[in-house]
Amino acid sequence: MSYWTKEDHIKLDKHNMIGKGLFSKVFKVSENEVVILTNDNAKECMSCFCQGYKHIPRMERIEDIGEFQAYKMPLYNKLTKKNFPKAWKEYVEINKALKYLRLEKWTCFAACIKAIQDNENLSESLKESLSGLFDMMASYTDEIFLDLAKRNFMVDHEGILILTDIVGSSHELEKQWSQRIKNKKASRFSM
Ligand SMILES: Nc1ncnc2c1ncn2[C@@H]1O[C@H](COP(=O)(O)OP(=O)(O)OP(=O)(O)O)[C@@H](O)[C@H]1O
Ligand SMILES: [Mg+2]
Repeated sequence: MSYWTKEDHIKLDKHNMIGKGLFSKVFKVSENEVVILTNDNAKECMSCFCQGYKHIPRMERIEDIGEFQAYKMPLYNKLTKKNFPKAWKEYVEINKALKYLRLEKWTCFAACIKAIQDNENLSESLKESLSGLFDMMASYTDEIFLDLAKRNFMVDHEGILILTDIVGSSHELEKQWSQRIKNKKASRFSM
């Protein structure tokens, strides 16, 4: 499937797609920029309410394309221990700090913020970014899930850890899964 951005008229298709997940498709559109097509409300939350925090991705909503919202973002680097040891250490510390809250469904934003604030191994800027993100997600949903896998963190050109996709709404996750099951059933019937 291919899409066109309305303003710049850039084609988004399998030739420039560099990432794909449950909610999003990511396309490289220039040397250091991507367009992300998504229906993840955590992306809307970050672009509207969390810009300016050091570890939140820079995101600008550009338009809607079909069922997706389109955002422009810098092209970030994959997080690896070898290339980005400082960011890697921070990623490990975040996982440790939120170990007991990393459940599939979790309602207590305050517990998460407290676990972050009480942690002595996280920098002030990480605490601010994480708390800001959790705090703002509370206005989107009453249940969030945390996904602290390596693929949901990236690193910018200065080696700073970026929290690209660590939180989502449980309600949205359930919607996506049930849609996938429906699509699978429909494609079986049409065979
Ligand atoms: N700004 C970016 N620069 C480079 N690659 C990116 C960028 N944003 C996302 N990606 C890549 O695209 C993948 C999918 O993006 P993202 O994690 O935001 O989508 P998702 O649908 O929420 O994923 P999932 O549900 O599988 O975690 C990422 O794992 C990453 O490899
Ligand atoms: Mg992801």
